[in-house]
Amino acid sequence: MKTCLITGGLGFIGTNFIKYLASHRKDIAIINADSITYAANPCNIDEKTMVNYKFYKIDIANNDELAEIFKKNKIDYVVNFAAESHVDRSILNPSVFVKTNIEGTLNLLKLSLEHKIEKFLQISTDEVYGSLGKDGLFTEMTPLSPRSPYSASKASADMLVMSFFHTYDMPVLITRCSNNYGQYQFPEKLIPLTIINALTGKDIPLYGDGKNIRDWIYVDDHVRGVLDVLEKGRFGEIYNIGGRSEMQNIGIISLILKKLNKPLSLIKYVKDRAGHDRRYAMDFSKITEELGFKPQLNLNEGLDLTISWYFENEDWWKKIISGDYRHYYKTMYEMR
Ligand code: NAD
Ligand code: DAU
Repeated sequence: MKTCLITGGLGFIGTNFIKYLASHRKDIAIINADSITYAANPCNIDEKTMVNYKFYKIDIANNDELAEIFKKNKIDYVVNFAAESHVDRSILNPSVFVKTNIEGTLNLLKLSLEHKIEKFLQISTDEVYGSLGKDGLFTEMTPLSPRSPYSASKASADMLVMSFFHTYDMPVLITRCSNNYGQYQFPEKLIPLTIINALTGKDIPLYGDGKNIRDWIYVDDHVRGVLDVLEKGRFGEIYNIGGRSEMQNIGIISLILKKLNKPLSLIKYVKDRAGHDRRYAMDFSKITEELGFKPQLNLNEGLDLTISWYFENEDWWKKIISGDYRHYYKTMYEMR
């Protein structure tokens, strides 16, 4: 049996990855290390239902805490999801992004090297490539051009990961994915924010002219791609993962409102995000050709599943919007 250390496994994508791995790979033991920031939810994973699963509440930026996990367990794989993930927050407070996303990744790399792990997979983002105009797609060869403190911290982490491959011959892999949506996403991000605000009759803040474009991928597709790369990826390689579902923000909000039978008058145009990237779009032919990965759900299908999940799991998001973390739910527009 192999053991996989997954960081950030109580956040949105980490939770979905752990559930997928636990149900599809019974021969892999899981260690989940998460500091439980505002974006985490300890209720996401019911430990009683998990087999070969351990949880550690630790901060990856604290090398001593992290070292204990490596001392106590023989770790074969590391998948690093832990991060500060919200662009707007990075504009307000970049320091914690440097601490977790850069220093935390460096700690993980150093300990993984020392303990001679078999594979290190860094979960990165299309945002490291910067912003596209009307045409073109990001490929793995597109030069890095991060434009927010968040994306700069993720690009720095990617470069550290690659430096460990070149310098120490460490078995590293990187995935760069486009915008995820689906179950367990914290409602500061556009899609869950829109669903919950619509359901509770609140305005939906739309930044700038609303014509910025994102390439949306359903989270189940992303986590399948991550496992493909972990199992079959070539060391030292970067794999883009995309959803082939580009849409303007105004389009996606309008579509959700239509599905919920709510009025477009809930949309409120607000001041733009500083340095707002205009368009992201992915060429993910490398992972398709090398590893056979393709997204299985289109945006329409994925949104239906997502809306149903938020309908059926009111308790999950009501605790967030009215509980201890309610101030984090305030839209960034309200905070700035
Ligand atoms: P999230 O904010 O929902 O979850 C992040 C998790 O990391 C939380 O559980 C949090 O408690 C944990 N964490 C934060 N700081 C930590 C620290 N110092 N030590 C230990 N744990 C810590 O994020 P997400 O949307 O699930 O994103 C996961 C990863 O995927 C991130 O690396 C992000 O950059 C990347 N990514 C996200 C998207 C997206 O659309 N959400 C797309 C591409 C890549
Ligand atoms: O592309 C991958 C990235 O996607 C990940 O690396 C990030 O972790 C993740 O947060 C996400 O970043 P974005 O900034 O694209 O996601 P967000 O949901 O914050 O915003 C999506 C778009 O919607 C963006 O153009 C800004 C706009 N927006 C966002 C919010 C929260 C609004 O118009 N109104 C809002 O209230």
